[in-house]
Amino acid sequence: MCGIVGYIGNKKAEPILIEGLTKLEYRGYDSAGLTILEKENFKTIKNKGRVKQLSEITSQENLVGTIGIAHTRWATHGKPSSTNSHPHNDSSNTFSIVHNGIIENYQELRKFLGENGYQFLSETDTEVIPNLIHYYFSKENEHSENTFLKAVNIATKDLKGSFAIGVLCTHFPDIMIAVRKDSPLVIGKGDGENFISSDIPAYLSFTHQFYFLKDNEFAVISKDSIDFYDTQLTKINKEISQIDWDATSAEKNGYEDFMLKEIYEQPNSIRETIGNHLSLNTPCQFDELNFSKEFLSQIHKIYIVACGTAMYAGLTAKTMLENICEINTEVDVASEFRYRNPLINKNTLCIFITQSGETADTIAALKLAKSKGATTLAVSNVEGSSITREADFVTYTHAGPEIAVASTKAYTSQITLLGILVIYFAETLGKNTKILEDMKKSILELPAKTEQLLSDITEIKNFAHEVYQVKDVFFLGRGLDYNSSVEGSLKLKEISYIHSEAFYSGELKHGPIALIEKDTLVVSVLTVQDLMDKSISNIQEVITRGAKTLIITDKILENSNFTKIIKVPETNQFLTPILSIIPLQLFAYYISKEKGLDVDKPRNLAKSVTVE
Ligand code: G6P
Repeated sequence: MCGIVGYIGNKKAEPILIEGLTKLEYRGYDSAGLTILEKENFKTIKNKGRVKQLSEITSQENLVGTIGIAHTRWATHGKPSSTNSHPHNDSSNTFSIVHNGIIENYQELRKFLGENGYQFLSETDTEVIPNLIHYYFSKENEHSENTFLKAVNIATKDLKGSFAIGVLCTHFPDIMIAVRKDSPLVIGKGDGENFISSDIPAYLSFTHQFYFLKDNEFAVISKDSIDFYDTQLTKINKEISQIDWDATSAEKNGYEDFMLKEIYEQPNSIRETIGNHLSLNTPCQFDELNFSKEFLSQIHKIYIVACGTAMYAGLTAKTMLENICEINTEVDVASEFRYRNPLINKNTLCIFITQSGETADTIAALKLAKSKGATTLAVSNVEGSSITREADFVTYTHAGPEIAVASTKAYTSQITLLGILVIYFAETLGKNTKILEDMKKSILELPAKTEQLLSDITEIKNFAHEVYQVKDVFFLGRGLDYNSSVEGSLKLKEISYIHSEAFYSGELKHGPIALIEKDTLVVSVLTVQDLMDKSISNIQEVITRGAKTLIITDKILENSNFTKIIKVPETNQFLTPILSIIPLQLFAYYISKEKGLDVDKPRNLAKSVTVE
């Protein structure tokens, strides 16, 4: 949601800003804009629509400035339009800013500034920020880089809500200022040039060295220096992080879409997730956790909290934790958990799963759990992301950057890592179950089985071609198969806009069956052996009512009357969701392609949901 980039150096800023915005397109947006500071004047160009359209305009403008900021906007306050797009400049055109987040008290601030002679052009909450900075700046007798920083500092103290901001000032064409609170912002360090961006992939082709700002820390950035300050404006030291992601890992590498590339990356991303955590005949290792038997023995309750796909990965972890570790586990949606006063004490472990590490609700839920005395563990894919700075413990999925909005490789890596974590808990607790060895062996086999699954995808592609015009799709499953159904259904609706819902098969007769009519498509996942007969009976009930059926299974189903069966390799029962989901990812992908949709950037959705 909203992408920020900024550049200061010796090169022309415009193409570098456009490149950064293009890399951040995956975050979801509806308009884009940039400001270049040239000869102490702003050139601000904004446009509703894609970055490509913006670049068609900016490339005609002969913008030679070497400092600039740019933004992709996902509309919250005010419809998508060029006026509402960022950057926003103050009434006197002295300050230009890009902002990600929401200013909750903007109406109050707008009123105050209006009374002080400031005028507003847009409907956004953001436009108060440059004006507020100007208000404080103009109160200073002398104007220096210090007073610029001071004005930004005082202005941000007035803001309620969340913000990541990049600011330029016409009086100081050699610096930009960045600050954040509860919204993501990273600073890339180059050689004679520096960058700001909402996320690491924007500038991976320029640098692998990044600084991560904490809440309410300020950075004053010139082409040769980056200075950091706290809220008292005392200079602070920050450590630089070397990010080893390959620049090409954020490129399509010949694939038509990032989603397809990421689906195909799964053998490797799962391998990376396994990393050094697991090998046969030795206990699983998590150096970053180092939990003792005493610590784990006093955990009476685990909450797994997340949003969207990450939450569905949590459903499988719950089954594993309860069955293998015998620890009572609840899975909760972060936006509910944070407001429902969950029962938490010092014997509670809260696990927060988030690919981006920036999901606002998940971070807020973690802060709540921490304030109530729980131990917090974040499972994230992005080093240095906001949640990793808040949690007591962090472990990474190492799936590499995921760009497509619809999550694929992050999900399979999350379940893989959680599976290893559960084995680690069980071993630490001294649970000597036979299943641990089988799980270990099966996890190590996952990359090869995923590869096998992806080696021939013709059947699912052809089936997508046959049915892509359906209006409604229902997904059914029991136990772990329900988890795959609900995630498969989410994938389909996200990128194909087809109405789709998932139900527990056993709930069919309690309502959903009323929706089944001739040619309704019902997708069912069938891997849990003990529940197989019951699930098949449910499918027969929909077939009797005229439904077409797509079955994802690891069993040989003979003499069946299903419309299409897709076979996946067998694995340990707890790991089946990792393999069952792959044909469903491809099914959603190919249906979206058949419908001619933008697979990577579905309408209204954002990759990183940084506001509530
Ligand atoms: C958005 C994305 C989903 C993702 C969810 C949680 O809704 O579109 O793909 O599962 O956020 O994101 P997180 O980064 O916290 O895993």
